[in-house]
Amino acid sequence: MTDALATGAAEREQVTEAKTQEVLVLDFGGQYSQLIARRVRECGVFSELLPHHVPLDEVRRRAPRGLILSGGPASVYSDGAPRLRSELLELGIPVLGICYGMQAMALELGGRVESAPVGEFGRSELTVHEHGRLFAGLPSEQRCWMSHRDTVFEPPAGATALASSSESPVAAFEDTARGLYGIQFHPEVVHTPYGTDVLRRFLDDICGCDMSWSAASVAEEQIARIREQVGDGRVICGLSGGVDSSVAALLVHRAVGDQLTCVFVDHGLMRRNEGEQVVAAFRDNFHVPLIVANAEERFLARLAGVTEPEQKRKLIGAEFIRVFEEEAAKLGNPKFLVQGTLYSDVIESGGGTGAATIKSHHNVGGLPEDLEFELVEPLRMLFKDEVRAVGAELGMSERLVWRQPFPGPGLAIRIVGGEVTRERLAILRDADYVLQDEIRSAGLYRDLWQSFCVLPADLRSVGVQGDERSYGYVVVIRAVTSDDAMTADWARLPYDLLERVASRMINEIPQVNRVTLDITSKPPGTIEWE
Ligand code: XMP
Repeated sequence: MTDALATGAAEREQVTEAKTQEVLVLDFGGQYSQLIARRVRECGVFSELLPHHVPLDEVRRRAPRGLILSGGPASVYSDGAPRLRSELLELGIPVLGICYGMQAMALELGGRVESAPVGEFGRSELTVHEHGRLFAGLPSEQRCWMSHRDTVFEPPAGATALASSSESPVAAFEDTARGLYGIQFHPEVVHTPYGTDVLRRFLDDICGCDMSWSAASVAEEQIARIREQVGDGRVICGLSGGVDSSVAALLVHRAVGDQLTCVFVDHGLMRRNEGEQVVAAFRDNFHVPLIVANAEERFLARLAGVTEPEQKRKLIGAEFIRVFEEEAAKLGNPKFLVQGTLYSDVIESGGGTGAATIKSHHNVGGLPEDLEFELVEPLRMLFKDEVRAVGAELGMSERLVWRQPFPGPGLAIRIVGGEVTRERLAILRDADYVLQDEIRSAGLYRDLWQSFCVLPADLRSVGVQGDERSYGYVVVIRAVTSDDAMTADWARLPYDLLERVASRMINEIPQVNRVTLDITSKPPGTIEWE
C-alpha cells in the first residue's frame, strides 16, 4: 500500500471515481441503519447514512448508484411518521426499501399496507415464490429476521411479489422496470443468513456497482486530503495508544511526514508497560516524531484527596489540556490538530442523521473546541472495524489494532469510592496485568469489548493465608461483550480461567486477598464502575 499511498493526481481521480460508486442509505430512524451502511461497505461499495429528509438536490448532486431506505420504528399510518417523498423513486436510481422503507414505498406507489393483527418479531421463514432479480441464485427457503407489525398485503401496481412468510403475504417485491425493490426482512443482521447475498444482488446486479471499494481506498483519499489541507503547516497529535488516535496519527505521518509531532501525555494512570509500548510502536517502529510528557507527579498531586468520580474526571481532563498546551507551546503552537473522530461520532453528533445524542463524559482526555487549532480528522468516514483494517494495512501490530477501548482518565476511575494513590495504582496495575495475561493466553481478548479490574479503594476483607489472618484489598473482575458500548453483557468467562486469575492475583499481589466477578449487564449497570 505504501507505494499506492504516494498518490499522484491520476490516483486521486480514481478515488473520486470510487466515491461516485456510492450507495446512500436514507435513515428512517431504524435501529440498524448504521449497520446497513456497514454491510454495504463490507460488500465493497462505499456507503453513507443520511437523514430520510435529505434535500433531493443533494441526492442528485451525489448521483449515487443506488438508494436504500432503512427500517424505522414508526407505523406508516402514525401521525408524524417519516414520509417517503415519491420524487426519490423517480430519479432513475435503483431503490431498495427495507422493512419500514419497503412499507413506505409500497404505500407511496399504491400498494396495500395494513397493520396486521399479529406482528412478526424475530426469526421467520421466508419462502421465495419467484426469484426475480433480487433473489436470483438464492435458495427458495431461507431463514430471516423480521421486526414489524405493518405488513404489505398487495404489491404496488407493476411490481411482482417475490416472497412471503407466515405473517407477511408480501415479504419482498420488485419492479424491475422502475428499479424499485422492497424487502420486509432485515438483510443487515446476522440472523438473516442470506441477507448479505440479497444486498449484493442489489448492489452488483441491480445498481451495477464495481464492488471494489475498501477501507484502504479511504486511506488513500484521506492522505491526499491531509496533504491538501495541511500544506507545509505543522501538525500536532495527542496520542493515547488507542487504535483511533494511532491510525489517525499514522495516516497524517504518511501524508506529511515529520511535519507531524505526536504528544503522549503519560498521566501515570496507564496500565503496565503501556507508555513503553506506545513509544516502541511510534518512535522506534514507525519513526514518528514523538514527545512523551511525563506528568505522573502532576496528576497524582491534583488527584490527592479527591474521591468523587466526576471531580476526578474533570481534574484529569483539565490537567491533560494544560500539559498538552504546554507541549504545543514548546513546539511553537502548530496550526493543525489531529483528532480520531469516527463516522459513528459524526452520525451521533447529528452530522449524519440529524439525531443529536452526544455522549457526554466520554471525551475526557480529549481537547476542548476553543483551542486554537484547525482540526485534521482523517477517520471521519470510517467505522471502527474499518479503522482497524486501515491500521493493519498501515503495518500496525495486531496488539495495537485490536486494543480494547481504555478510558481517557485511565485507572483513576477504576479505583472506586476513594482516593487514587500510588500504592492503589500499583495494585490495580498488577491485577490488570494478570487478568489481561490470562485472557490473552486463553485466546479470548478479541471476543471481549473490554476486560479490566476494579479496586474498591476503602474496602478490605478478612482472609486466611498461611494459617494467618489477612486483611486485604478486594479486586473485582469486569469483562463485557458489546458492539458499541451503548449496551453490554457480562462475559461468561470460563470457570477455570477465572480460577487461574483469582489464584494468581492472590499469590502474586500481597495486598490482595479476595477476587470477585461483576455480573451486571448494561443497562442497568454501566461498563465502568465510576
Ligand atoms: P460506561 O461506563 O458509561 O462506558 O458504560 C462506556 C464506554 O466509555 C468508556 N468510558 C470513558 N472513556 N473517558 C473516556 O475516554 C471517560 O471518562 C469514560 N468513562 C467511560 C468506557 O470504558 C466504555 O468503553
